Amino acid sequence: MLVLGLETSCDETGVALYDSDRGLLSDALYSQIELHKEFGGVVPELASRDHVRKIIPLIEEVLAEADCCRDDIDAIAYTSGPGLSGALMVGACVGRSMAMAMGVPAIGVHHMEGHLLAPMLEESPPSFPFIALLVSGGHTQLIEVEGIGEYTLLGESLDDAAGEAFDKAAKMLGLDYPGGPNIAKLAVDGNGDRFKFPRPMTTKPGLDFSFSGLKTFTLNTVAAHRDAEGQVEKQIKADIADAFELAVVDTLALKCKRAIKQTGLKTLVVAGGVSANRRLRERLERVLASQGGKAFYARPEYCTDNGAMIAYAGAQRLVAGQQEPLAVTIKPRWPL
Ligand code: KG4
Ligand code: ZN
Repeated sequence: MLVLGLETSCDETGVALYDSDRGLLSDALYSQIELHKEFGGVVPELASRDHVRKIIPLIEEVLAEADCCRDDIDAIAYTSGPGLSGALMVGACVGRSMAMAMGVPAIGVHHMEGHLLAPMLEESPPSFPFIALLVSGGHTQLIEVEGIGEYTLLGESLDDAAGEAFDKAAKMLGLDYPGGPNIAKLAVDGNGDRFKFPRPMTTKPGLDFSFSGLKTFTLNTVAAHRDAEGQVEKQIKADIADAFELAVVDTLALKCKRAIKQTGLKTLVVAGGVSANRRLRERLERVLASQGGKAFYARPEYCTDNGAMIAYAGAQRLVAGQQEPLAVTIKPRWPL
């Protein structure tokens, strides 16, 4: 089954072709980062308009790259939530109406299920059951995964997501959006030992997270180091970035270790934008090795938003016989 996948939930237009027998045939991504940069975050209306501009050319691109034509497509998968309403509407309208015109089934995919299954596109994928740590700009969740669609929430952030905390801390340090990769880059030259950032909710039992306190701690630390002109020295900024990143990594790692103990599962899948973080990967690899288990990730370009994960997740659902009715529906808020 050849599935066209469309991702438009936020600020990346992702399109891919996945074949259930041959694997991923092609994928294309257009990032709107430059468009939103001057606003310090994603502007929903601008995002929707840019998806409208890019989605058809990207569909043509993936078809050409895979040497396929529209008639070869057996089904269409699109992200139907959660995300920005207008942005989701673009992928859902294009996907649903194309499928209707072509007489093929369509499926609305949960964006976080796409992230969760993205490591399955790698050469040696994890096998079920496993624990998934989903860390993106909108979600921080620990989930017990028994199979496709069999998800039990073990814990989640009670306030900001880990990626959101990275983005906000970056803004406080004068770094561009998205903040995660920029904090990581700055932290390389930093000495985090200089500051004692909290590890939120690690002394309490349970698997929930809270990152808003870390954000406030960053704000206060930055404020305490402003000079008479209101500037913060470059080295101090690097030290703050390092201490911040270390606090997030420590906190996530501790909760993963707890989840392994609680469930007895020794396979951990780490997915979502923050899973591209090198330090987090290194730490989780060590944690899993110490527990006799293994950590799995997607390659960095499939950690952040992309069409390949939607095509893959959609294919799994379609093969299981699911499909969408004719109406175009989006779910801007949608628990996994
Ligand atoms: O999964 P994603 O692309 O979009 C959502 O579904 O939210 O995740 C985006 C988030 C942003 O908050 C970004 O700062 C973060 O992932 N991120 C990172 C890194 N790369 C992206 N955070 C830490 N380290 C990174 N290398
Ligand atoms: Zn995402």
